[in-house]
Amino acid sequence: MSPNHTPKPGLPALLGRGPQGIFRRTLPSEQFAGERMVRTLGLTQLTMIGVGAIIGAGIFSLAAAVARDVAGPAVLISFLVAGAASLCAAFAYAEFAGMVPKAGSSYTYCAAVLGEVVGWIVGWDLLLEYTAIVAVVAIGMSGYLGFLLDAVGIHLPTWALGAPGTGTGHRIDLLAVAICLAVAWLLTRGTRTSARVETVLTIVKIAIVLVVIVVGFTKVDSGNLTPFAPFGLGGAFTGAATVFFAVFGYDALSTAAEESVEARDKLPKAMMLSLGISMVLYVLVCVVLTGIQHYSELNPNSGISSAFAGVGLNGLANVIAVGAVIGIVTVTFSFMMGASRLWYALSRDGLMPAWFGAIHPKRKVPHRATWIIGIVSAVLAGVLPINAVAELTNIGVLLAFMVVCASVLILRYRKPHLKRAFRCPGMPVVPVLGIIFSGWLMSFLQWETWVRLGAWLVAGLVIYGAYGYRRTRQVMPGGSVDLDTLDTLDDLDTLDDLADTEDPEPRTLGA
Ligand code: ALA
Repeated sequence: MSPNHTPKPGLPALLGRGPQGIFRRTLPSEQFAGERMVRTLGLTQLTMIGVGAIIGAGIFSLAAAVARDVAGPAVLISFLVAGAASLCAAFAYAEFAGMVPKAGSSYTYCAAVLGEVVGWIVGWDLLLEYTAIVAVVAIGMSGYLGFLLDAVGIHLPTWALGAPGTGTGHRIDLLAVAICLAVAWLLTRGTRTSARVETVLTIVKIAIVLVVIVVGFTKVDSGNLTPFAPFGLGGAFTGAATVFFAVFGYDALSTAAEESVEARDKLPKAMMLSLGISMVLYVLVCVVLTGIQHYSELNPNSGISSAFAGVGLNGLANVIAVGAVIGIVTVTFSFMMGASRLWYALSRDGLMPAWFGAIHPKRKVPHRATWIIGIVSAVLAGVLPINAVAELTNIGVLLAFMVVCASVLILRYRKPHLKRAFRCPGMPVVPVLGIIFSGWLMSFLQWETWVRLGAWLVAGLVIYGAYGYRRTRQVMPGGSVDLDTLDTLDDLDTLDDLADTEDPEPRTLGA
């Protein structure tokens, strides 16, 4: 019988795990096997996408602001606390990535363990967050880029310098709009092409950060580092809630599971490596930043460049500004890619219309979702001040972290014998700490941020009730999947297998 003609379920069935239950556990089924993306990403590229997503506006812009206003040199502690919270969640993400090699990241994990409606809420939440992050970092970068253009004598008209309300005569942040659209275009060229560009840019970014560290250490004045915590430890902890922005990004990486070669093995490694590399660099940059300039004199907008200019290294200051621009482009790239893969997974599973998630026949990427996210982030970046968009980010990522930590905990006890390519260490302490840390960092956010998140989630539930609930039962009929099938999902394609996957005919999801 067609699901369209199924009688309306009663409340117990609706709240259950059966075919009509909103808590049924779902996994992408075999019927999607012909419509998947192409596995082209190896460990190096995955790690580069991870580092590309992690190191960005957080260190280039937020570190100086937090050091100056709330933490002093103890901004180092802020980074370590935020990093510890993020590491707990990273272990949970890595365990899932080693078990569920499917696009969609937290959405897919939560739908498989906690049920369809929880997965949808997390996916819907992250769709907003990732798109907002693209806009935030594009706005942050347009400031640096404008600074560099000025330095070479190119002056944009006043109306193009920022969103309305950010300065006299400002109408639109033209550079931020251009960046969002350019990255969308690059992403629609194909995963392998765009990942190559991302890898090159990330290597340049890491090189510039290493120069900052090596040259910076020769200029450190230990007098600047005392007192180490002028605002007390409380200041350092408050700073952690802000610099948390700097320590996520590997979660966006897990959305690329269906484009990873041997995802089960490579993704967890790439997550750990990218967070580890980023944390080492962050700690060293924090020492340099607060060591070469007194924390009270740091410039919150172009902190690292200004600190180097302050000790007479003007040429290097400009090179660092270029590094900041490149660094932020790679973040835009990773999160736009993450948002489009998430959208693909939601469309594939019937929670959003299939049209959005269609894979381009030649490029093998979800081109419509990519363009929509590019255009929406361009609009947000063009007309809203950075703070209004920034408020939409951390809370949603922290919410997803909590739910993923809870899912990994539940699954470990419910299905202890499943094959896990990566095992979260320190069970149950690490995921519990991840939940506590994330909740604690969320408690620092303003009430308006909670209201905005609530409104977005209510809108998501309305869409689920009006569309997703019915459509996903047409695409994926049946009740809860057997969790024992989690570790039987295929992810073993190698580059050699790809010769057979070229398909001259356009394919649409769910057709
Ligand atoms: N971690 C990313 C950044 O700092 C979002 O820009």
